[in-house]
Amino acid sequence: MATPITEIADLKRLYKRRVPKMFYDYCESGSWTEQTFRDNTSDFDLIRLRQRVAVDMANRSTAGQMIGEDVAMPVALAPVGMTGMQHADGEILAAQAAEEFGVPFCLSTMSICSIEAVAAATTKPFWFQLYVMKDYDFLENVIERARKAGCTAMILTLDLQILGQRHKDIKNGLSAPPKPTLKNIVNLSTKVGWGLEMLQTKHRSFGNIIGHAKGVGDVSSLSSWTAEQFDPRLDWAKVKKIRDMWGGKLILKGIMDPDDARAALDVGADAIIVSNHGGRQLDGAISSIRALPEIVNAVGGQTEIHLDSGIRSGQDVLKALAMGATGTYIGRAFVYGLGAKGKQGVTDALTVIHKELDTTMALCGRNDVKDVNRDILLTDDAFYRYRGNW
Ligand SMILES: Cc1cc2nc3c(=O)[nH]c(=O)nc-3n(C[C@H](O)[C@H](O)[C@H](O)COP(=O)(O)O)c2cc1C
Repeated sequence: MATPITEIADLKRLYKRRVPKMFYDYCESGSWTEQTFRDNTSDFDLIRLRQRVAVDMANRSTAGQMIGEDVAMPVALAPVGMTGMQHADGEILAAQAAEEFGVPFCLSTMSICSIEAVAAATTKPFWFQLYVMKDYDFLENVIERARKAGCTAMILTLDLQILGQRHKDIKNGLSAPPKPTLKNIVNLSTKVGWGLEMLQTKHRSFGNIIGHAKGVGDVSSLSSWTAEQFDPRLDWAKVKKIRDMWGGKLILKGIMDPDDARAALDVGADAIIVSNHGGRQLDGAISSIRALPEIVNAVGGQTEIHLDSGIRSGQDVLKALAMGATGTYIGRAFVYGLGAKGKQGVTDALTVIHKELDTTMALCGRNDVKDVNRDILLTDDAFYRYRGNW
C-alpha cells in the first residue's frame, strides 16, 4: 500500500523520483547563492504562534475572497512557467484540481498548455499572468486571447525585466527548447512514467508563444525569441499602458518595497503580490514574509495584499494572513504534487495545506480565517526591523 501523503515534503520526495532531474532542478533552485530562496522558507520558521484554549471551535471557516472571487481558502496556484514539463498537460491538470478545490489558478505566459487549451479543459475562469515582452503586437494579442478565454484577472509580473541566473539551469542545458546534456539524456531515459505520458500529449512547447509571436512558427525559432524578449524598459508608464490595454482586474506581482507598493496603488492595482519570485530573481533580497509587515503598514486597507515565496504549509499561510496578507499563492508546493501524482497530487497539496491551515487556526483559538490578525503571532521585534535605523 502506498504511504499516505501527510505533508508537502512527501510529495516533494515522490516528485524528485518521478521527474527528470533538469526539470526538478529548474523548480528547486534559486538565483546565484540561493540565499533568498533559503530565507523564504526559514524565515517562516522564526514566527511563533500563540496557543489559545477553551474557545468553541465547532464551526470553522477557511473561506474568503481574493479580488472579489470566492475561494475555499485564500491560497491560489501561482503562475509557474513550463508546468507542462513537470507532468504531461500539467497546466490543464493543475487548473482542474484548483477548480474542483475552489481556489484560483493562474496560467503563466511561459506555460506549455496554451490559454485556449486550459480554457477548453476547465469550466471556471482562471487568471492569466503576463510577462512584458518587447514585442507589443504579441502583448496586445496575448491580452486579447486572455480576455476572449474569459480570464477574470491579469497578474502582471514586474520583477523579471532581466533574468536572474540559476546555475543548474545553465549546467543542465535547460532552455527553450531544452538542450539536455548527455548526463541529462541518460537521466531522462530512466523516467519512464513521465516519458510515456509526455509522448501521449501534443502540449510539449510554449503554447502561448509558438504560432502567435512574429517569426516563431516552431520550437527552433523560440529560443532566440525568448532570450531577447523580456522588456528591460518596463516602467510605471508602461504598467499604466498595459492596465488600459487589459481593462480588467489587475494584480501586480513582485512588490517587495513600501515605495513600490504605493506606486502600485497609484496605478490602481486591485491587488499586489509581495513576492521575490520564490528566490529566483534578486539573490540577497529579504524573504517576502519579512517584507510583508512594512508593506501592510504602508498600503494595508487600500488594496489587497497577497503574498507568495516560501509557503510550504498551512501554518505558513496562517502566518502570512496574520501579518496582514489577504491572500497567498503556492508555487513549488503544487508543482511537487503535480510532478509526483498529476492532478491528484495537486489536490493532495491543497488538501494538506487546507488541513494544516484549519487545524492551526483552531489551535490559535480562531474559527474564521477572516478574523486572524497579528494577535495570534509571537514574534521577536527584530523580525520587523530589517532596515535598521541608518
Ligand atoms: C519553476 C518555477 C517557474 C516559475 N515561473 C513563473 C512565471 O512564469 N511567471 C511568474 O510570474 N512567476 C513564476 N514563478 C514564480 C511563482 O509565481 C511564485 O512567485 C513562486 O513560485 C513562489 O514561491 P514558492 O515556489 O516558494 O511558493 C515561477 C516559480 C517556479 C518555482
